[in-house]
Amino acid sequence: MTSARGRLTKDGIRIYQLGDFAGMAEAGRIAAVILDDIIPHIFVGQTTAEIDRIITEMVTAHGAKSATIGYKGYMHASCISVNHVVCHGIPSDKKIKDGDILNIDVTVIIDGWFGDTSRMYVAGKLARKSERLIEVTHEALFKGIEAVKPGNTFGDIGHAIQSFVEGHRMSVVKDFCGHGLGQVFHAPPNVLHYGRAGTGPVLEEGMFFTIEPMVNLGRSETKVLADDWTAVTRDKSLSAQFEHSVGVTATGVEIFTLSPNNVFHPTYG
Ligand code: MF3
Ligand code: CO
Ligand code: CO
Repeated sequence: MTSARGRLTKDGIRIYQLGDFAGMAEAGRIAAVILDDIIPHIFVGQTTAEIDRIITEMVTAHGAKSATIGYKGYMHASCISVNHVVCHGIPSDKKIKDGDILNIDVTVIIDGWFGDTSRMYVAGKLARKSERLIEVTHEALFKGIEAVKPGNTFGDIGHAIQSFVEGHRMSVVKDFCGHGLGQVFHAPPNVLHYGRAGTGPVLEEGMFFTIEPMVNLGRSETKVLADDWTAVTRDKSLSAQFEHSVGVTATGVEIFTLSPNNVFHPTYG
């Protein structure tokens, strides 16, 4: 079955059309600008609730909507995951401490298109082991992105990420994955950050999805706390994550959520 909005593959993955890339690029750009602009608001003594409040204002100022407020009962414009929190950290009144590492994950909707991205931040002095974790995680995301082109498979993306991370004696989280997106927040396929080369659905031009590896310094196992959102490492080891929304082009990949100011890494400044 085809429609004005493209078609679905046999795996239920939507194939968007050339004209749809512009919508994703604008949604991605706004999400990325927000992650750029939040940098000066991260410091020792700041609360994650205040960071989220500022993000909520920024989303509105861009004429966008938050995709997470009201999503499955989640009531914040960001997830803020500190230290051993793997993902889906809920903004709170707890103060950020010296050396804390944080992932901030923002998803906006503009003109019906979803832009979903996250980055790492640090407050105060960055410990060497935290810096290594953050660097490996960011590079792992890009190993995955480099595997995006028509004819490759989703298993190629997962394999590129997993082999790189494990080569640095860190572990990839298996309990959470990336996802298709576009005019919806979460759609097929599940984008695993581990796997075997050559397995899984074949990438086609017009697929839009996120790649968002979570990497732990210790073991990969996670658990979700009683609030039903906060995922933490079982062994309490530090965890990091970066996320980009991407589209498959005729020859490779377009990254929709690149930092316009090129300030995506917490060793900036
Ligand atoms: N932005 C997250 C993702 O990468 C999803 C957050 S859902 C929320 O898919 F409800 F926790 F905000
Ligand atoms: Co996502
Ligand atoms: Co996200």
